[in-house]
Amino acid sequence: MVTLLENPLRVGLQQQRMPEPNIIVFFGASGDLTKRKLVPALYHLKRERRLPPELTIVGVARRPWSDDYFREQMREGVEQFSDGIGSEAAWDDFAKGLFYCPGDIDNPESYQKLKTLLAELDEKRGTRGNRVFYLAVAPNFFPEAIRQLGASEMLKDPQKTRLVIEKPFGRDLSSAQRLNRVVNEVCKEEQVYRIDHYLGKETVQNLLVFRFANAIFEPLWNRQFVDHVQITVAETVGVEDRAGYYESAGALRDMVQNHLMQLFCLTAMEPPNALDADSIRTEKVKVIQATHLADVNHLEHSAIRGQYSAGWMKGKQVPGYRTEPGVNPNSTTPTYVAMKFMVDNWRWQGVPFYLRTGKRLPKKVSEISIQFREVPYLIFQSAAQQTNANVLTMRIQPNEGIAMRFEVKMPGADLRSRSVEMDFSYGTSFGVTGGEAYDRLLLDCMMGDQTLFTRSDEVEAAWRVVTPALTAWEAPTDPATIPQYEAGTWEPSEAELLINRDGRRWRRL
Ligand code: BG6
Repeated sequence: MVTLLENPLRVGLQQQRMPEPNIIVFFGASGDLTKRKLVPALYHLKRERRLPPELTIVGVARRPWSDDYFREQMREGVEQFSDGIGSEAAWDDFAKGLFYCPGDIDNPESYQKLKTLLAELDEKRGTRGNRVFYLAVAPNFFPEAIRQLGASEMLKDPQKTRLVIEKPFGRDLSSAQRLNRVVNEVCKEEQVYRIDHYLGKETVQNLLVFRFANAIFEPLWNRQFVDHVQITVAETVGVEDRAGYYESAGALRDMVQNHLMQLFCLTAMEPPNALDADSIRTEKVKVIQATHLADVNHLEHSAIRGQYSAGWMKGKQVPGYRTEPGVNPNSTTPTYVAMKFMVDNWRWQGVPFYLRTGKRLPKKVSEISIQFREVPYLIFQSAAQQTNANVLTMRIQPNEGIAMRFEVKMPGADLRSRSVEMDFSYGTSFGVTGGEAYDRLLLDCMMGDQTLFTRSDEVEAAWRVVTPALTAWEAPTDPATIPQYEAGTWEPSEAELLINRDGRRWRRL
């Protein structure tokens, strides 16, 4: 019998592949993302021999840099933010494929100049007209950049050109719909790669394999056996130097609508018919469409926001959100969100999904925990106080792995039970913890594999789920009513209540 993993027909999630020669154009090339993540990821792929020798990178940004200066900047990025250049020869080989084209997002002439340069590079480097346009710019520039790429006919050939759009895709449902319309006017959906870097994480992809390549878990993965699910993405960092963006985004837009929603989808979706991009994405859309906040009439029963106040992190005093540089002292922007979702389908009816994320929490940890039901009847009366329901935890980061908690008898003459964990760790089993998310996503995009990217209907459905909270939280609010939590502590008490009200507790991680 051919298993899912051996199936030669699979087109997504494949191993050992090499893209066609192409040019990857980074808009926003002088920004942080290009220097910290994108170019280091490509360099890493190159050193792993996953890229064709013809691969060419063109940086576009307003600053009047030269090719050489761009190369210097990118080298700095590789040295600072990844594991270094390795050898001078390897860097030189990579750097000769780096070019810079100064230009303005809203100036048609800049696009003509870029088009001419790309045609020249096709000749010089043998890139055959294949192009990836990557928008690593602030989200308010997305529509203009897409329109201009369309007007200059650089996205005309759906076989050879692709468009990558960073998150956040819109700032609510209607702006996401508008952006999707702009995208649809200039290119086909199969050319569009909406990035959510969580989908590039090894452990997130492993969710599919874990669920659908093992026979023993799927029969338990439903309302009959699962009591509830908790999804946590906790960060220790604060807003850092991103107040300009974060003040208008906040944790709901920055994390929940995209990263947590993706973790939720992969946990809750039905098995896809195949591993190709559309089969998987269709199942994700179906489950989001069945999902809603638990009680929109009493929002505080299904959505809580919070803000970190001053506190201590690793022995150092840190400021509260409202006194961070660039943040409005009366800001109502949430740095913490907890939500309770319900899913109206046969598999999950009545099973709550609790999601939470926050900055300046005590630990950096992302995990999904499936909390199973209690045993139907406990025969060990004397041990009753000590038994715990089984929990399956998928650790997304750090210490990537999977743990199963179950009860065992404690050694000794008395019949007492205790919870223990059976633990799988990527590090121990494979000696590695999986590659960088951007390596994977850039490679997939160059290969034309959309599995790990969000489809237009998916992104809109995700906005729809969070809209009731977004709308309520957009309304003018007295800053004094925003729940506060001390930096370095877990959630505000209102978020405790959200789950305690149901007789449950947040996991202590
Ligand atoms: C980004 C958010 O998308 O994800 C950041 O904009 C956040 O605010 C980051 O810190 C978290 O990503 P990771 O991979 O560190 O969990």
